[in-house]
Amino acid sequence: MQDFLKRLPKAELHLHIEGSLEPELMFALAERNGIELPYASVDEVRAAYEFEDLQSFLNLYYQGMAVLRSADDFFDLAMDYFRRAHAEGVVHVEISFDPQAHLARGIELGVQMEGLSRARRQAERELDMSTALIMSFLRDRPADEAMRVLEQAAPYWEMLDAVGLDSAECGHPPSKFREVFARAMTLGIPRVAHAGEEGPPSYIREALDLLDVCRIDHGVRCLEDSALVERLREERIPLTVCPLSNVRLKVVEHIDDHPLPKLMDAGLLLTLNSDDPAYFGGGVLANYLACQRAFGWSKETFAILARNAIEVAFLDDSRRQALR
Ligand code: ADE
Ligand code: ZN
Repeated sequence: MQDFLKRLPKAELHLHIEGSLEPELMFALAERNGIELPYASVDEVRAAYEFEDLQSFLNLYYQGMAVLRSADDFFDLAMDYFRRAHAEGVVHVEISFDPQAHLARGIELGVQMEGLSRARRQAERELDMSTALIMSFLRDRPADEAMRVLEQAAPYWEMLDAVGLDSAECGHPPSKFREVFARAMTLGIPRVAHAGEEGPPSYIREALDLLDVCRIDHGVRCLEDSALVERLREERIPLTVCPLSNVRLKVVEHIDDHPLPKLMDAGLLLTLNSDDPAYFGGGVLANYLACQRAFGWSKETFAILARNAIEVAFLDDSRRQALR
């Protein structure tokens, strides 16, 4: 089964590239950039990854990414991830990035885009992977800042497959970003949003109704609202579910309690993803394997999950056809 899951051609749709920063690379980049880390060793970094909730993780996530300064750093970050994903049987990846978190540290958007774009081209050429790019807005920062970043990204609009919404969810409903997402829609840029990870089901409704998203990232709390579940099923709205993330951020207590089987029984369109693999105990294959151990799903079920991701990915028709 392990071999089957590894060989199964998988697509990853929910991956924060800054969350793929492994401690080894964190140390290498800190040294390259003359940055002092608050840790003595790689083991000490890993030992610090005990989270109480989303916010306690985000604090370390934003701290960790401070080692990213040059386009080469962003290139190395993304390339490191693409290589690992490729080795796990991932054939298509959609990477999200958080431009505001870097702009706030004085790293220009052009620097971020140059590094990430170069890595995407190299992965496409050398690893035969396809990739997509999602520019995410930080929902715990003001909406007008997100709007400025969207306008600032004008030279790169063509390179964006979607815009997204992430960071601390509770108290920052999708409605706050209505105008920003309306502007993205006018520009013809597709939209996705984290909703229903820690936040209530009403945030999922808002993301659909006010932001016109085509996918919901996480969405696991939809189960608290049966009418919403019915709507997600009827409208075939994909959920990008990240089981190991949900365990590590205590959205659920244990993988055995994860709502994935219930979401599946409800007939929802599900995909399995890693979210922040360096922080949550592994990449997309580790998430597939964890589900196999916890739920004992058949090969057929995993093949459907992998197929779902390919069907709802930001892919052109010929590549989608090739991956089917
Ligand atoms: N940014 C990185 N990972 C995230 C998550 N799981 N939820 C919200 N924002 C994030
Ligand atoms: Zn996420």
